[in-house]
Amino acid sequence: MDAERVAHRNGAAVVTEHARPYYTSVGNEETVFKAAYRQGLSLLLKGPTGCGKTRFVEAMAHDLERKLITVACHDDLTTADLVGRFLLRGDETVWVDGPLTRAVREGAICYLDEVVEARQDTTVVLHPLADYRRQLPIERLGVTLDAAPGFGLVVSYNPGYQSVLKDLKDSTRQRMVAIEFGFPPPDVEEGIVRHEAGVDARVAADLVTFGQAIRRLETGGLREVASTRVLIAAGRLVAEGLPMRDAARAAIAGPLTDDASVGRGLAEMIDVYLANPAVGD
Ligand SMILES: Nc1ncnc2c1ncn2[C@@H]1O[C@H](COP(=O)(O)OP(=O)(O)O)[C@@H](O)[C@H]1O
Ligand SMILES: [Mg+2]
Repeated sequence: MDAERVAHRNGAAVVTEHARPYYTSVGNEETVFKAAYRQGLSLLLKGPTGCGKTRFVEAMAHDLERKLITVACHDDLTTADLVGRFLLRGDETVWVDGPLTRAVREGAICYLDEVVEARQDTTVVLHPLADYRRQLPIERLGVTLDAAPGFGLVVSYNPGYQSVLKDLKDSTRQRMVAIEFGFPPPDVEEGIVRHEAGVDARVAADLVTFGQAIRRLETGGLREVASTRVLIAAGRLVAEGLPMRDAARAAIAGPLTDDASVGRGLAEMIDVYLANPAVGD
């Protein structure tokens, strides 16, 4: 993504060198990703929402010096949205490549975020791309494209949201190398919250301790457990001067539940864990 950003100097667009997207590795995920990519194997990233999958892919694309094309999948996504379609331009009909086709032609990394959100009839087009053929059939054009060197396919999904209907087909899964993500261990997560929210070590540590406590709950009534993302959001509010408790209620408790009694339970936990007047209050 970053490698593609351009700056305008004296009216001319120039590609600028960008710093690596901030990503702290947790295990051997970087080695596995790079090995699989170099071997032309597709990748399946599994893990809960907000645990760093997208940031990880951005960092990998940067390290591998590949352009990254990301598609956020949803259940209205059609094959045409991925592959391309004919559009009317003036009185001419022109073919416009979709993001997957662009990645195949340009040798970019195509990242399909939350792929199980997409319908199976949409994702069948991935099969010949994901295996040794590395081909993209474009029915509407009557052509089959060979993926350019450098093309990589990466999909992510949250196993917690998996439904039988939306499950990836085994034949697709077996063509992929899987990397499992969880939330980072506390010391790593503290560093991430500090960096991303711009808070001090103490605030980051308190937020992470609270996040861990929520994760230990058996998520009764919670839509999701507290992700690294919501801890960062709370930290950002603290960085703006909000007291810890207000920040945690707004950025952690609020998004995690709509249920009044569960919300009260979380508020009580916030009072226990984050009521330290030395921090923020
Ligand atoms: N290992 C990590 N290194 C750096 N930042 C991380 C890491 N894990 C999570 N984050 C932070 O958490 C946020 C959410 O992560 P993201 O990659 O968007 O999650 P996902 O794609 O899994 O839903 C990121 O924007 C980043 O700020
Ligand atoms: Mg993501």
